[in-house]
Amino acid sequence: MVRAEAVVDLAAIRHNVATLRARLDTAQLMTVVKADGYGHGMVPVARAARQAGADWIGAAVLEEALELRAAGDTGPIFCWLTTPGEPLAQAIAAGIDLSAGAPWEIDELVAGVTDRPARVHLKIDTGLSRGGAVPEEWPTLVRAALKAEREGRLEITGIWSHLASADEPKSPANEAQVETFETAIAVAEHLGAEVEYRHLANSPGMLALPQTHFDLVRPGIATYGLSPFGPALPSAELGLRPAMTLRARLAMVKRVPAGTSVSYGLTWTAPKPSTLGLIPLGYGDGLPRHASNGAPVQVGGARRTVVGRICMDQCVVNLEDDVAAAGQEVVLFGPGTGGEPTADDWAEVAGTINYEIVTRLGARIPRRYVDSAEVGG
Ligand SMILES: Cc1ncc(COP(=O)(O)O)c(C=O)c1O
Repeated sequence: MVRAEAVVDLAAIRHNVATLRARLDTAQLMTVVKADGYGHGMVPVARAARQAGADWIGAAVLEEALELRAAGDTGPIFCWLTTPGEPLAQAIAAGIDLSAGAPWEIDELVAGVTDRPARVHLKIDTGLSRGGAVPEEWPTLVRAALKAEREGRLEITGIWSHLASADEPKSPANEAQVETFETAIAVAEHLGAEVEYRHLANSPGMLALPQTHFDLVRPGIATYGLSPFGPALPSAELGLRPAMTLRARLAMVKRVPAGTSVSYGLTWTAPKPSTLGLIPLGYGDGLPRHASNGAPVQVGGARRTVVGRICMDQCVVNLEDDVAAAGQEVVLFGPGTGGEPTADDWAEVAGTINYEIVTRLGARIPRRYVDSAEVGG
């Protein structure tokens, strides 16, 4: 490491995938690697997930799915977010399973077919109000897909939807969504659809609501060892291991007198003589600016706090009376097993969720891949 790095423990990813898989009865497992594997690196995570038994890989957008194929992944891949005019023909030819939630999407898929039928998962909107056909329009969508299937242009592989409140397992919204989903499946079957994969569950659904498992589950965040329930149910209690450690080297250390103010806006003032350390990471690297004046870090085994505003490329840690030198390592977050802060700790200070803390880390931070034994090396 020179300036900073995100160390990604592929053994932890494999452990998490295997742990999730072991919780399933008959359902298959789709590991979700969208948004560059939640910031961990899409292709290495997908490879580790396949090694640990992931049946499917899930991508949000076409570029991701095509990159997985280009990287040599030949297994089932599902990609669910396309907009008009995207290169569907390329995706169909690459054998990527796609989603359709409106008749125009069926038309676009059919237009993209050359030598093999498009594999399609029909999406029902069961209450999240993002993509998918609302129940009133569902029969029209299913009929359009069945017509294309009879013409040999399309294969209805799945029916799917997405949960809105699975991180609140007791919310009545979950049961309502399951009911709407089951009704939609029954309607499609009544109209003549024969579907292999029915899928609804994300990480919190698969972990807390077995009735959402159906034939396939789609965990994302749990793959990375983070709890979808946040600090209310820490990942260790779910048997998961956080895979990412974000580290940097202090770029500068200085002693300042009491009354010295720090960073833009001078929002923090040293109450006593203090040692300050300069961390060469900022919001340009994905640190949340909302974590200014409060984000926790670990330096020399001690918990210390970011003081003043987080800038684009740097931020300042109050080292109090520690003996420190430029070049010393600072851990911003990691699994927490060595006393370092976690992504949940950062999320709490920034008023966000652990998903955002890892996913927003930018391309300026190199990712280094290790197996557990090497972490910290
Ligand atoms: C359609 C879909 N399925 C699955 C997931 C994975 O969700 P989670 O990371 O909560 O497991 C996501 C992510 O938001 C998603 O959009």
